[in-house]
Amino acid sequence: MQKAFDIGLDSLVAGRPAAAAEAEFVTGVPKRGTFYLETFGCQMNEHDSEKVAGVLLSRGYRQVESVEAASFVLYNTCSIREKAAQKVFSRLGEFRDMPGEPKKIGVLGCVAQQEGEKIFHRTPWVSLVCGSASYSKLPELLSQLEAGEKRVTGLDTDTDETFETELTRRDNPWRAYLTIIEGCDKACSYCVVPYTRGPERSRSSDSVLRELRQLAELGYTEVQFLGQTVNSYADPSPRKLKFSELLCAAAEMPGTRRVRFTTSHPRDFSPDIVEAIDRDERICNHVHLPVQSGSTRVLRAMQRTYSREEYLEKIAMVRGAKRPISVTTDIIVGFPGETEKEFEETLSLLEEVKYDGVFSFKYSPRPNTPAQSMSDAIPEEEKSRRLAILLELQRKIQAAANEKWIGQILEVHVEGKSRKENQWSGHTSCHRVVNFSSAQPDLLGNYVQVKVTGASPNCLIGDHAC
Ligand code: 5AD
Ligand code: SF4
Repeated sequence: MQKAFDIGLDSLVAGRPAAAAEAEFVTGVPKRGTFYLETFGCQMNEHDSEKVAGVLLSRGYRQVESVEAASFVLYNTCSIREKAAQKVFSRLGEFRDMPGEPKKIGVLGCVAQQEGEKIFHRTPWVSLVCGSASYSKLPELLSQLEAGEKRVTGLDTDTDETFETELTRRDNPWRAYLTIIEGCDKACSYCVVPYTRGPERSRSSDSVLRELRQLAELGYTEVQFLGQTVNSYADPSPRKLKFSELLCAAAEMPGTRRVRFTTSHPRDFSPDIVEAIDRDERICNHVHLPVQSGSTRVLRAMQRTYSREEYLEKIAMVRGAKRPISVTTDIIVGFPGETEKEFEETLSLLEEVKYDGVFSFKYSPRPNTPAQSMSDAIPEEEKSRRLAILLELQRKIQAAANEKWIGQILEVHVEGKSRKENQWSGHTSCHRVVNFSSAQPDLLGNYVQVKVTGASPNCLIGDHAC
């Protein structure tokens, strides 16, 4: 993935306590050994891993930070592009001739769902294969493994259950992910998610708000609602809260300072969401609204359900808000048959919208998707050329946009501390990364005012304004 928005916090020490990194045995349950869990892919996967870790800890496993130290190794996988899927098989290959005690290996997530039992044939040392739609069966599957079964699978997608657990072990002590809808009912012609994550299942608003209350009581001040199409949320309970109403109810929860949500689908992006952001400052003024292409012909081939013009109407709605709302997007370059002119339409869309951030990808053919059998594949070098042009344009757009913040004061949620003395990092409500200096100790987790003194395409620089 080519990111043109978030900077890596390379020079920063992550703000989480050591206890979360190497979680301990839970007291009062039998000790079962150690596990190492590595996550590939999106925030949904990251959060699923937090839930899986919670289930394992509650069963008496202890989390460790290296494969070598673990008796049970789990990979939570991503198959959205071919490279991500290949990476998993290269990890699994490393166990072929590994010396020492054989380890139990589990493959979770999208590659597990997609490849199923074929994983056992390709890498016979794997003993657990489980897709995300079957995670609610994880305790049962783990029991089978613990009882000595050699090959255990959870591969159903015909579920109406969501994966909820009281046991989630969150990595970040201030910002909590909370899944409100799982799966995807859209049918974009290039995408494996509807196959790997199953149909859309929303969690009841009562259950979401109950968990949010607990999170607020535990000191989490920021919550991020997650869903592959988060704004397609359909409350299954009699309250029937709309997505925007759920955002407002969450923002009103005592102790909650910020509510984020990702990813929004343009088709279901309705005016009441913008009105909610305008009404309550605790709802973050950032919308991730993937467009994928600026050409209506390509959008039709992608089965995105909107034209360039209809998408731009959604953008106009966002721009019409009283608060400035930052907008980020996803783009695929080199979709089969994409002409030079159609690619240029994507560039002109970028110029027109002036996104605050873009995640851009070269099209990658995926198994079982309609696009896989489309003719007119774009050569790899051409995809790379288009990607480089797009990234360069977006870099200039972001550099110009970020310059405009210089001199302003922004509220930053402090999430990282640099190894360099007095240097901190965090996010604004509109999801910009701000690196700033402050001589104050213990800022982690706080919300502080920062005066912006400099800017680069990917972040703002500033000083703590007391
Ligand atoms: N090839 C390239 N990018 C893809 N995405 C989804 N499927 C593919 C694919 N086959 C991108 C889309 C989506 C993001 C999460 O990944 O841009 O919004
Ligand atoms: Fe994939 Fe489209 Fe669903 Fe997004 S909306 S997860 S791109 S099928």
